[in-house]
Amino acid sequence: MKVDGKLTRSIWLEPDGWSVGIVDQTVLPHRFATLRLTTLDDAARAIKSMQVRGAPLIGAAAAYGICLALRADASDQNLERACAALSATRPTAINLKWALDEIVAVVRNQPREARVAVAYRRAAEICDWDVVINQAIGRHGVKLIEDVATRNNGAPVNILTHCNAGWLATVDFGTATAPIYTAHDKGMKLHVWVDETRPRNQGASLTAWELGQHGVPHTVIADNAGGHLMQHRMVDLAIVGTDRVTAQGDVCNKIGTYLKALAAKDNDVPFYVALPSPTIDFTVSDGRAEIPIEQRGGEEQSTMTGMTSDGRIETVRVVPAGSNVANYGFDVTPARLVTGLITERGIIPATREALVQTFPERATEAR
Ligand code: MRU
Repeated sequence: MKVDGKLTRSIWLEPDGWSVGIVDQTVLPHRFATLRLTTLDDAARAIKSMQVRGAPLIGAAAAYGICLALRADASDQNLERACAALSATRPTAINLKWALDEIVAVVRNQPREARVAVAYRRAAEICDWDVVINQAIGRHGVKLIEDVATRNNGAPVNILTHCNAGWLATVDFGTATAPIYTAHDKGMKLHVWVDETRPRNQGASLTAWELGQHGVPHTVIADNAGGHLMQHRMVDLAIVGTDRVTAQGDVCNKIGTYLKALAAKDNDVPFYVALPSPTIDFTVSDGRAEIPIEQRGGEEQSTMTGMTSDGRIETVRVVPAGSNVANYGFDVTPARLVTGLITERGIIPATREALVQTFPERATEAR
């Protein structure tokens, strides 16, 4: 997508052909800054500190992390060490494991001297594939927006989204935002309700920023506002992303997604989840019982960071010193609350049958 008019991806290979460029997402929306990763430790730190975040981008960054590790030492032991270090960065998004498995599968049987080139090739393919997938999600998902637009008789379509499942969370286009960008680029009238997404405010900081860069009308709301808007028919459609979809169609996504799905069900608002196939984990069924939920540092909950009126970035405490805080990163929305899954192969029900039928090769791999 464009930043100040210039086509930009969230991760890229630098002109030197080996170091890796990223957008530093911890300083948005106040500053657009890029960083150069040159070592495995740089890549692991970028994922852990959420300079890169969002399930597909975590996978892409991990793939390049392996490339950087192999450049330093292409031995089996170092490959294992790199996989262990990257796997430990964030536990919930399955795309991390998927990307590591993809790289290891192509590198393992290569002689040491061939490994670096093979790994870089695969990492680039993972990135390009993500872009192609998201464009397909956009083509399928836009039909949902077109249907509502027809019913709305020309009034803007109101879409609610949670967290950031936009281009910053992927390599480009985003998942939940792909149908939105596609509709906007076709000239359709739409408006996006952006959940602020406490505690890290990915909605307020990142989704609002990227929608603004692309000229998509949007309004940031407190996380608790969604139910009220749905009761008042101010939301036509909810579209969110996901960090892991189980074999039975349960959806793990940023904390608060479940509450939006409950409110949507109660108000007959269609609740769709956009996902690339690497986000499906056929090895787990019951998301609530089986998906590890990341718990992050309490300071994300007890403080807020923003820009002062004189342009300084400051972090302030918003919870009394001494109060306990808890910071659960994700929750699981049971499949029964999901209207449909927007995938690169079409919109399907959130059921085991539909997932297996649509992605038989992934289901077979997992056996
Ligand atoms: O903790 P984050 O910011 O990595 O969480 C991101 C999300 O929950 C996204 O909705 C999800 O990864 C889908 S991104 C296409």
